Amino acid sequence: MIFGKTLATALSLILVHSATVQSQAPTTNILTGCVTTYDATIDYFPQKLDTCNNLFSGISCLLLYIVWSLTSSDIPANFTNLAITYSKNYKTIVNSFSKETIVLYQCGTPKPTVAGATLITSVPITNLSISDTTIVTYLELLGQRSAIKYTTAGTLSYISSPCIQAMAAANPPTIAEADSKNAKNGIAQVASTNVYFQYMGPWTANVTNEVTFPATADPGMKGRGEWLGFLGAFFNLEATANQISSTIFSNYATLSAAAKAAAPATKLNVAWIYYQPFYSAQYPASWQISYNQYIQDYTTAAGAAAFVPASTAGANVVGANSMATVYTYNSSSTFLSALSNADVVIDLSFNTLNSTSFMTNYGIQATSTAKYIANKQVYTLNQQISPANGGNMWFESAVVLQNVVLADLISVLNPSVLGSSYTPTYIRSVFSSAKQTVLTASQCTSQTAPVQVPIISVGAAPTASPSAGATGAAQGTTTGAAPSAKALSFTVALAAALLI
Ligand SMILES: *[C@@H]1O[C@H](CO)[C@@H](O)[C@H](O)[C@H]1NC(C)=O
Ligand SMILES: *[C@@H]1O[C@H](CO)[C@@H](O)[C@H](O)[C@H]1NC(C)=O
Ligand SMILES: *[C@@H]1O[C@H](CO)[C@@H](O)[C@H](O)[C@H]1NC(C)=O
Ligand SMILES: *[C@@H]1O[C@H](CO)[C@@H](O)[C@H](O)[C@H]1NC(C)=O
Ligand SMILES: *[C@@H]1O[C@H](CO)[C@@H](O)[C@H](O)[C@H]1NC(C)=O
Repeated sequence: MIFGKTLATALSLILVHSATVQSQAPTTNILTGCVTTYDATIDYFPQKLDTCNNLFSGISCLLLYIVWSLTSSDIPANFTNLAITYSKNYKTIVNSFSKETIVLYQCGTPKPTVAGATLITSVPITNLSISDTTIVTYLELLGQRSAIKYTTAGTLSYISSPCIQAMAAANPPTIAEADSKNAKNGIAQVASTNVYFQYMGPWTANVTNEVTFPATADPGMKGRGEWLGFLGAFFNLEATANQISSTIFSNYATLSAAAKAAAPATKLNVAWIYYQPFYSAQYPASWQISYNQYIQDYTTAAGAAAFVPASTAGANVVGANSMATVYTYNSSSTFLSALSNADVVIDLSFNTLNSTSFMTNYGIQATSTAKYIANKQVYTLNQQISPANGGNMWFESAVVLQNVVLADLISVLNPSVLGSSYTPTYIRSVFSSAKQTVLTASQCTSQTAPVQVPIISVGAAPTASPSAGATGAAQGTTTGAAPSAKALSFTVALAAALLI
């Protein structure tokens, strides 16, 4: 009894104490504006990134990793690229990929001094610039589409998002490409935003607000997911990032469990390939088989096996013993020999649109007896495209909507799991006569509404359109034009970022 009474007293003391603290300190992060009366004892970031959901490095993350790796084979992630530490009025993010230390302090509190910081800026940020399409959906999920003010030249027209297209088409436009004809102007525009998020973008030496966003350089899919939390921290949107990450990961886990349960004992061998047309003497034509970590993650999770050549004959192997192995061949015949045992092929090439272009790109004869030809098991990931015929959703939403990518793969590798009513977002058979889906501004229903994570049910269609914020209505036309040299160089850079 005494113990019980003591406990009750202790509990009421704790409650009284926390009630007192709560009357002074914020219980949620500050999402708009600045602190007016600074108090050094207050924790200005009560909502922190959940290291388990976001897999930022931390002790809970390590425990999760150990448990997960004992129970599942598809968790490989590089946990070391990002780390975040919270102080009372600032947070420090170390991006070990770019070797940047970014310090974000609450607006209205003293700017901290942190040794080795590459950028110290106040949060929440309200606007930003971007240099490629791979960051777009992360921002749209966080509800920060309208914060994007500028893209670098040659980026905006490759964005497929209907609502970004609507922002660009508005009068006056609320998003624009930075001036590329007058670099001084362009640099001033990018510098006028709070942060310039870029990866392989221009002008990094000319501005002081540059932050590297190399999500596609993370080899594993879990590592790519972490970048949602990274961006969320700039907006004090840790709680939102936690919720989105956990939605994506839990749907991914459900889908993967169902696919693995339904998979045949002898798994399909799925080869992910890429054709690089001749671009210059420095970049001759090449044919590749990719064994990048994210490819292994997705294929295994879909209940299949990622294909590796039986021998390295004729291959230039890059990234062996790393999480980003790619086998490159300098002739289509050596490539085709290496590929001969694949059951299914997923072609990541930019210019494969149909079976004719597929056969031409890879030098495959009509008489080919390869299983993937005989069984018509060749797919591309360019179902949803931008009107400019340069961008597609694979380079945009697929980087973060990993549950949707997985569902698409399951729909062709273990189709019984999702049922016939499932409509893929990215994947498309090269043998199908169905047209690509051109996304346009008219499909945007609200420029400010966040993109919602589609939850894909086992045995049923998704509960939300993958391009939410858009009606999702397909417009079944393609322009059919060959990609321009400019488009090619841009997408070659992006494809390289995704592949290698
Ligand atoms: C993870 O990334 C870090 C830094 O980029 C690198 O040093 C480490 O080797 C990587 N770990 C794995 C398992 O690839
Ligand atoms: C971005 O926000 C800052 C205030 O933080 C403002 O001064 C600047 O004009 C904004 N830039 C653009 C391009 O809207
Ligand atoms: C941008 O920085 C680079 C590297 O320092 C420099 O060569 C170039 O002149 C700068 N451009 C402008 C427009 O200032
Ligand atoms: C392809 O590479 C092999 C060596 O790996 C070399 O002997 C051959 O000349 C190359 N062929 C072409 C067309 O570059
Ligand atoms: C196949 O795609 C190519 C472009 O890669 C195009 O020129 C051709 O017309 C397409 N063929 C069919 C039957 O659609």
